Amino acid sequence: MKVLLVCLGNICRSPMAEGILRKKAKDNGIAIETDSCGTAAYHEGEPPDTRAQETISKHNNDISDLRGRKFKIEDFDRFDLIYAMDEDNYKRIIALARNQSDIDKVDMIMNVVYPGENISVPDPYYGGLGGFERTYEMLDLAAEKFIEGLSRKKTS
Ligand code: 4NP
Repeated sequence: MKVLLVCLGNICRSPMAEGILRKKAKDNGIAIETDSCGTAAYHEGEPPDTRAQETISKHNNDISDLRGRKFKIEDFDRFDLIYAMDEDNYKRIIALARNQSDIDKVDMIMNVVYPGENISVPDPYYGGLGGFERTYEMLDLAAEKFIEGLSRKKTS
């Protein structure tokens, strides 16, 4: 199972989502491949925003190894699931889809918790640390549900 997390800049929400998901997978003995990217190339090659790193560190996790990159068409072939952080980025990815199979792989990440509600994870980039903590809480909930779903599949 290969999962791609996507936001706009790939320095705040999606690297946090990747870090949270890969840690939960590891802690639960679940083998999944994770990656993240942005629909924009502003921060290509950069590490996550220091506020994202600080927030993740507070929760005993580490995302300092991650580097920004832009979404590319081949990601539709490489990944089984593509989770957008918000509606805008969902639309940007869907606009690049080549066929129905590509479209079927894409969803908004909070739909894992609240199916069909299309809730966006707000962009914390222009806000303070509180925003990043709120981002963490939302993504932690989504990752928890996602791993729960996989564990259930594994044992049934
Ligand atoms: P992200 O946040 O999409 O969660 O990584 C942003 C980071 C940078 C910018 C926008 C959003 N930016 O405009 O540079």
